[in-house]
Amino acid sequence: KVLILDFGSQYTQLIARRVREAHVYCEIFPCNADFEKIKAFEAKGIILSGGPSSVYEEDAPRVDERVFEMGLPVLGICYGMQLAGQHFGGVVAPSNHREYGRAVLSYESSCGLFKGLEGNGTLTVWMSHGDRLEKMPEHFDIVAKTDNAPAAAMKHHSREIYAIQFHPEVTHTEQGKAILENFVVGICGCRQIWTTENFIQAEIERVREKVGGRKVLCGLSGGVDSSVVAVLLHEAIGDNLVCVFVDNGLLRLNEREYVEKTFREHYKINLVVADAEERFLTALAGVTDPEKKRKTIGNLFIRIFEEEARKIGDFDFLAQGTLYPDVIESVSFKGPSATIKSHHNVGGLPEDMKFQLVEPLRELFKDEVRDVGRKLGLPEVMVGRHPFPGPGLGVRVLGEITKKRCDVLRQADAIFIEELHNANLYNTIWQAFAVLLPVNTVGVMGDGRTYENACAIRAVYSSDGMTADWAHIPYDVLGKISNRIINEVRGINRVVYDISSKPPATIEWE
Ligand code: XMP
Repeated sequence: KVLILDFGSQYTQLIARRVREAHVYCEIFPCNADFEKIKAFEAKGIILSGGPSSVYEEDAPRVDERVFEMGLPVLGICYGMQLAGQHFGGVVAPSNHREYGRAVLSYESSCGLFKGLEGNGTLTVWMSHGDRLEKMPEHFDIVAKTDNAPAAAMKHHSREIYAIQFHPEVTHTEQGKAILENFVVGICGCRQIWTTENFIQAEIERVREKVGGRKVLCGLSGGVDSSVVAVLLHEAIGDNLVCVFVDNGLLRLNEREYVEKTFREHYKINLVVADAEERFLTALAGVTDPEKKRKTIGNLFIRIFEEEARKIGDFDFLAQGTLYPDVIESVSFKGPSATIKSHHNVGGLPEDMKFQLVEPLRELFKDEVRDVGRKLGLPEVMVGRHPFPGPGLGVRVLGEITKKRCDVLRQADAIFIEELHNANLYNTIWQAFAVLLPVNTVGVMGDGRTYENACAIRAVYSSDGMTADWAHIPYDVLGKISNRIINEVRGINRVVYDISSKPPATIEWE
């Protein structure tokens, strides 16, 4: 396995994903991790990430310099290169030619990093830096250059220390994955045994060992993560797993039936469905403030989940779909951020319920979770699903939430999603949904006047939901969606398309 030390680059997680795609396990530690912890990880090689700082700044993030002296191969990327350069006696300075974007790299094919690449000595690579090595460190050879960076890659004469100025982890760099694979496999000598099948096998054994014959409770939302957790745990412990699904009346069309069919009928999982639509709608009656809606829904969810848990009786473990990005301690250069929206997850269960957590996905990235789901036989429509927020339609029916308005929105949303599938666009879009606006507009249908609701449709490209771009859906597809919604859904007579990016807008409207 390989250790990635993070200096705060927006691309650090991408490095990890590329390494894992080469079937080599890796983890990310913050650059200031304790040296003892770094040693204890027993990596076969170390990658130093990029970062937004300059190594000559006073408070620039550093790493314990003993990492260069452990006898392990090291690959410094961008900021990591400058840090390695400085450690070995080079000088880093601001460059007159800052480089952002594509550049043409000429490389020496004899260097281990570039072995076996197609391209005859040149590659298009992605650069993003304002600093560069002004004076080379001693004992290093230049192994690649670009027009603006005479030292775009270098290697120590006698040791396996490599450094590159460009970013092999981004898709804009041609064969970047092969370069990283050359490092982790060819140079570090890692075996390529990190595969979905091996993960599933190992995790099933790990869960069996931890849980023994005891009971595990799992909150199932129908989303990708909790679905994969449920099926994986069911493989491991069978009927000792009990899943609880809360029908809060704020779900997508046919969601509850779909969950029951998939998990109860197909997988034969012990599934308890809490029928709580009325309680949610009663609690939400008259509530229009977005934060108040979120709090009402979140609190009631926890109360109902707890009631169901108590009905089931004693259990020793609670399963959660925590993923690796949730547990990485990243180097953050931002201060505490303001609460934009309060998100909720099952975190607020009362203290007197004594259980331990089971988090079988905590080593995985989202794309790996999807692969595990596929291997466990979950249907593609389930593993490839867009994210859906905990408060559900509660934050998509703007204004007052009533059953009728939820039903109207459910239908419009289902048509929108169906047409995205028909146009083969669903998988290129990160999230798409309809929003019911608390606005009535005038229309004309046949010879009659209508005065009904407007509906907004929203579709975004994103990689993690933190930033997003509105999706450029072709006009003819938008036209078809609008036509179908207005014709088929009673209560909607106008459709608008949301063309706001995040920031400054957020993805959800509330
Ligand atoms: P925003 O609207 O903040 O959404 O740009 C970013 C992503 O988070 C989802 N979201 C939630 N997910 N509980 C969740 O589990 C919530 O309360 C919640 N609110 C928003 C949203 O759908 C988008 O994917």
